[in-house]
Amino acid sequence: MFVESVVRWGVWSILLQFGLSVSAGSCPQRCMCRPEARQVICSGKYLNSVPEGFSSDARRLDLSRNRIKTVGRRQFSGLLQLQELDLSDNIISMIEVEAFWGLQSLRTLRLKNNRLKILPVGVFSGLSSLRFLDLSQNEILVFLDYTFKEMVSLQTLEAGENDLVFISQRAFFGLQNLQELNLDRSNLTSIPTEALSQLQSLTQLRMLRLTISTLPNNAFRRLHRLRSLLISNWPALDTMASNSLIGLNLTTLVISKCNLTAVPYAALRHLVYLHFLDLSNNPITVIQGNLLGDLLRLQELHLAGASLLRVEPGAFKGLSFFRLLNVTSNQLTTLEESAFHSVGNLQVLRLDGNPLACDCRLLWVVRRRLRLSFDGHQPTCSSPDVVRQREFRDFSEKELPRLFTCRPARVMDRRPQEVRVEEGTTVLFSCKADGDPFPAITWISSHKNVISPTGRIRVLPNGTLEVRFAQVQDSGTYQCLAGNAAGNDSLTVGLYVKGLPRNRTMPFFAEEGWVEPSNAQAANSSAQMAKPYPFDAKTLVIATTMGFLSFLSSVAICFVFMFFWSQSKGQIKHTATIDFVPRSSVGGGGDGGDGGRFTMKLI
Ligand SMILES: *[C@@H]1O[C@H](CO)[C@@H](O)[C@H](O)[C@H]1NC(C)=O
Ligand SMILES: *[C@@H]1O[C@H](CO)[C@@H](O)[C@H](O)[C@H]1NC(C)=O
Ligand SMILES: *[C@@H]1O[C@H](CO)[C@@H](O)[C@H](O)[C@H]1NC(C)=O
Ligand SMILES: *[C@@H]1O[C@H](CO)[C@@H](O)[C@H](O)[C@H]1NC(C)=O
Ligand SMILES: *[C@@H]1O[C@H](CO)[C@@H](O)[C@H](O)[C@H]1NC(C)=O
Ligand SMILES: *[C@@H]1O[C@H](CO)[C@@H](O)[C@H](O)[C@H]1NC(C)=O
Ligand SMILES: *[C@@H]1O[C@H](CO)[C@@H](O)[C@H](O)[C@H]1NC(C)=O
Ligand SMILES: *[C@@H]1O[C@H](CO)[C@@H](O)[C@H](O)[C@H]1NC(C)=O
Repeated sequence: MFVESVVRWGVWSILLQFGLSVSAGSCPQRCMCRPEARQVICSGKYLNSVPEGFSSDARRLDLSRNRIKTVGRRQFSGLLQLQELDLSDNIISMIEVEAFWGLQSLRTLRLKNNRLKILPVGVFSGLSSLRFLDLSQNEILVFLDYTFKEMVSLQTLEAGENDLVFISQRAFFGLQNLQELNLDRSNLTSIPTEALSQLQSLTQLRMLRLTISTLPNNAFRRLHRLRSLLISNWPALDTMASNSLIGLNLTTLVISKCNLTAVPYAALRHLVYLHFLDLSNNPITVIQGNLLGDLLRLQELHLAGASLLRVEPGAFKGLSFFRLLNVTSNQLTTLEESAFHSVGNLQVLRLDGNPLACDCRLLWVVRRRLRLSFDGHQPTCSSPDVVRQREFRDFSEKELPRLFTCRPARVMDRRPQEVRVEEGTTVLFSCKADGDPFPAITWISSHKNVISPTGRIRVLPNGTLEVRFAQVQDSGTYQCLAGNAAGNDSLTVGLYVKGLPRNRTMPFFAEEGWVEPSNAQAANSSAQMAKPYPFDAKTLVIATTMGFLSFLSSVAICFVFMFFWSQSKGQIKHTATIDFVPRSSVGGGGDGGDGGRFTMKLI
């Protein structure tokens, strides 16, 4: 090797003496040439500038890991056969216009990890065959219009880890064959929608580590060929507008390590070709039922490391190709078979890292424990105590019917509850149920409406039904439904409210904290609807306030008159006594003094 390079060095110096810088068979000083492979390797040779004297038939030139500062105009002209040029890991801060001119066969250009701040328009002119360009790990601030104009063959552009704050609207003009773009870790504050819309062949777009907080409607336009969109590590992203992905036909979508609190169902809906969806590491708490059904071809859903508490029944309904669910490291206590369209197609399930309650709801998983792949991570029971910490593969077929069991829901106190009250009374109906898992309690009114936890008629957290200020039209039967995975039970109670004669005060102010019914169901059953009272609560408040105000203003006017009168007379009178007739009926007027008279002090 040493001998060879000495020989080469000899050849090279002779050539130099003849004034030839580029010629067949030459090799620059300090470089290693492999003529058979047509490679020139000058990596890590402490070069301060691009050397001269490359063999004109070189195919690959490696100048990486040197201390090159600038690349001059037409620096590589003559290397007509060069296919790959590596200038990465230098300290290049300046590339002159037409620097790569003449490299008509160049397919790969690496400029990674340099100190480029600006790319003058025309830097890349002449690179019409280039397929791959790596500009990552520089300090580029903007991409100007027409920067990549002549790069008609470019397929991959790595532009990540720069200080990009702006991409001009026509920056990507001419990149008609670009398929893959990587814009990781830039300082962009919004999606460069307009610039991206020039990339009509783009199939993959990757944007990791950005500080954008919203994906607005129509964020990606005219990207008809885009199939894969990767958004990850945007800690501020908490909003995805419902039309943010409109116009895209994706097969792979990753929106991970962001701040989404819900699955963006509306934004995903039109992605009927999607087969891979990764929403991991977002603070999502629930996968709701029947909202992903439009994603007909979905095969994989990753929602690892999120905050999932529940996967509702029907969550994956309609997804007949669904084969992988990754919900490792969440807060799920169970995963019911009813969430799936058909568990027969499920092949991989990551359910480890969840506080699983091993009862009848997970029996379907443990029954399939040999067929189903857990990707090397066995689910583990957290409760009940008898099976705590046991892995699913440890259970023998024999013990399953004994361990993975549930007790159906059962209403405990079945005594009939028939209540007859006068209008305005508050009534409680208890419904205590028992079962394993603990049953959910639902109350249903005689009109078949589910009663909510808010409003005048509501369900308290302990399952008790509360009817406040009972109205005649609240009369009827109410049904308490207690249910869990193993079974349902119910209880019916009756309420009969007796109307009062019209002359009694309304009950609205009788108890503190009463607010107007907020939900529709309660509103329908409240007093205004059915009972023709002479006045309602609002009128009462307004009348009272107005009465009080008019009283106050008459007092004030009197007072002013008296003040001027006393001043004009020159007499000094320090007090004035004002008589009035209290309006006891509305209760607002009598506050000023006792016995219809009060005394004011004049200043
Ligand atoms: C880009 O963001 C990084 C990290 O947030 C910061 O250090 C750098 O100064 C920013 N650059 C510009 C040009 O704003
Ligand atoms: C994520 O969202 C929560 C509120 O939903 C907010 O408190 C938090 O600051 C957000 N995180 C970031 C990094 O913006
Ligand atoms: C959407 O993408 C799929 C998969 O690549 C393709 O088969 C389908 O034709 C595309 N649909 C449209 C409207 O482009
Ligand atoms: C599930 O997600 C975890 C965490 O993101 C990941 O490490 C693992 O490879 C995923 N498993 C599968 C089968 O995709
Ligand atoms: C349910 O809670 C309410 C108020 O919090 C209480 O008055 C009632 O007694 C409770 N009922 C039962 C059955 O515990
Ligand atoms: C309990 O009721 C729910 C809703 O009405 C129903 O879907 C479910 O099948 C019932 N479960 C059993 C075990 O009867
Ligand atoms: C209001 O009705 C009661 C009967 O409930 C009656 O005794 C009373 O006289 C009535 N008062 C007025 C002012 O009509
Ligand atoms: C309330 O009444 C309106 C009509 O007055 C009806 O359309 C609506 O469905 C009712 N809502 C409930 C919860 O009963």
